[in-house]
Amino acid sequence: MFGFFSKISEQKIKELLTKANNLYEQKKFADAIKIYRRILKRDPKHFAARANLATAYFETENFKAAAPLFAELIRSDAANPWWHNYLSQTCQQTGRLQQALAEAWQAVVLSGGQKEHQLNLAYTIYETADMIGYDTVDSVLQKWHRKYPHNAIVRQCYKSFHQDNKFICSEPEYVESLFDVFAPDFDKVLAELGYCVPQEISRMLAEYFAGKVMHQKWILDLGCGSGLCAAAVAENFPQSRFVGMDISAGMLKEAEHKNIYTSLIQGDISSCCAQIKRRFSIVTAADVFTYFGRLDSLFAEIGKLMFRNGVFAFSISENTTNGKDFFLMPSSRFVHRPEYVENVLRKQGFEVVKNERKILRTEGEKEVAGRIILAVKK
Ligand SMILES: C[S@@+](CC[C@H](N)C(=O)[O-])C[C@H]1O[C@@H](n2cnc3c(N)ncnc32)[C@H](O)[C@@H]1O
Repeated sequence: MFGFFSKISEQKIKELLTKANNLYEQKKFADAIKIYRRILKRDPKHFAARANLATAYFETENFKAAAPLFAELIRSDAANPWWHNYLSQTCQQTGRLQQALAEAWQAVVLSGGQKEHQLNLAYTIYETADMIGYDTVDSVLQKWHRKYPHNAIVRQCYKSFHQDNKFICSEPEYVESLFDVFAPDFDKVLAELGYCVPQEISRMLAEYFAGKVMHQKWILDLGCGSGLCAAAVAENFPQSRFVGMDISAGMLKEAEHKNIYTSLIQGDISSCCAQIKRRFSIVTAADVFTYFGRLDSLFAEIGKLMFRNGVFAFSISENTTNGKDFFLMPSSRFVHRPEYVENVLRKQGFEVVKNERKILRTEGEKEVAGRIILAVKK
């Protein structure tokens, strides 16, 4: 009799779990949470219910409820780096910053240095540095760099914290990993940050071309990402043909879904521009030069791809920290001095026709100031 009862009970738990997981996949987290809790009442050791309850709390930003569950998951599934990764992010949100760093490090080591966990450690170092002090994060940076001296994510983060002046361009592998991991959430996150560069570039291009004869334009979108810039520009230039180039296959996959581009090229802008045979009337690069320090040889290559009187429209983040031409911030992004950018443009045969100061997006509580620049190829 008891065996029969427990069988029914197990079957019921299975059904409840399937129902909760379906709700989870539909992002109906509150309903899923209720069912996982019911399952755990009947079977407190149910691993899947606990794991999914923990991540559902995480998704709904109930970090206080998630933290003890991740700690329990670590006890029962100690070799899985993801519980450490989640606990690290949870600790960051609840102000336990030393533990956030320790858990992020643990995730890196347990995963054998997988990029998702390396990126999480880089992000945790950046996010906690101001609050727990440079010396504390530096000790983690040093041991990280000793263990993975050839990893591009580690090198990029290490150099940005040590303000390495010889570092004039982001590590291509770092950028690729960063955006491959970020790609599925990119559009949503950027909307939440009030990212306006694509719309501003589109508006300024429309103003520049207002009243001019409009032929069909070929537009090259450098660092096209998920296609936000082309989507905004297409609103004002509906007859145009777009070619997109990006280093990240993940971002290109997102761009493909938007059905805007005639062709998409995967490659590093620094080396692939030279391989393009076509010429363009407009070249856009929205929030791309944050991954480049020196711009002279890059602008020279871009100039070669453009028709005379073609327009190069792009953004830079402004260096408001010091007087340097360009500067790698602890966020691993470059900022530039606008006068330096204008000088490089002139040297490479462009005339600057617009240079507008804008708040490009927010970063935490702060605003990211930058410029949208339009330059005509002479
Ligand atoms: C912040 S995203 C901006 C994407 C898009 N332009 C937009 O405005 O939404 C920067 C993009 O530049 C790409 N990128 C950065 N460095 C690159 C490089 N060296 N070669 C090609 N793409 C690069 C990244 O992969 C990423 O998709």
